[in-house]
Amino acid sequence: MVSWYPPEAYGELAADVQEVLITADDLQQRVRELGAAVSQDYAGRNPLLVGVLKGVVFFMADLLRTITIPVEVDFMAVASYTAESRNKGLVRLVKDLETPISERHVLFVEDVVDTGLSLGYLLRTLRARGPASLEVCTLFNKPKHRLIDIPLKYTGIDLPDCFAVGYGLDYRERYRNLPFVGLLKPEAMRTYSNA
Ligand code: IMP
Ligand code: MG
Repeated sequence: MVSWYPPEAYGELAADVQEVLITADDLQQRVRELGAAVSQDYAGRNPLLVGVLKGVVFFMADLLRTITIPVEVDFMAVASYTAESRNKGLVRLVKDLETPISERHVLFVEDVVDTGLSLGYLLRTLRARGPASLEVCTLFNKPKHRLIDIPLKYTGIDLPDCFAVGYGLDYRERYRNLPFVGLLKPEAMRTYSNA
């Protein structure tokens, strides 16, 4: 197993973290279990794992390395139009898949499912292309915030009703590279901007 630096090694990033919610070791262990399940369920089906940039790249990279069957990967990128359209789950595709998914077994990989609105929209878009199957694997799940019902074939870890950072989750593009998941100090959430 990869051994990560201790949280305090992350200097100014770690100084902004109030509490570690999930350790790097626990994350890696759960990812390994998900990878084993995917390897078993999709044996002989050459699945295509699809992710939306950017938050999922950490989970995707680790998950792929725990999958022991042939598998392919592709990414999409989306942008929200406005805060209002985001609330309705309307997103604009700014980068589409390069792979045709008709007749393919597609596993949609997510970092976190919160309201589920944007995921719902993207699943409808992909389903219209006629995949042989379309399932969802999310590492983090916030069931309390769900606004639409989305069947999740694989769920890694339920998160409490709070804003978390690390392992792909960002606050204004910061903290994605932490190998653990934590809560930010309130003052850190005020301090940083995108600049
Ligand atoms: P939703 O499921 O359509 O509400 O969208 C979920 C998106 O909200 C994710 O892709 C993240 O970008 C963001 N998000 C939700 N919860 C968190 C969190 O705790 N930390 C950081 N980003 C989050
Ligand atoms: Mg984000």
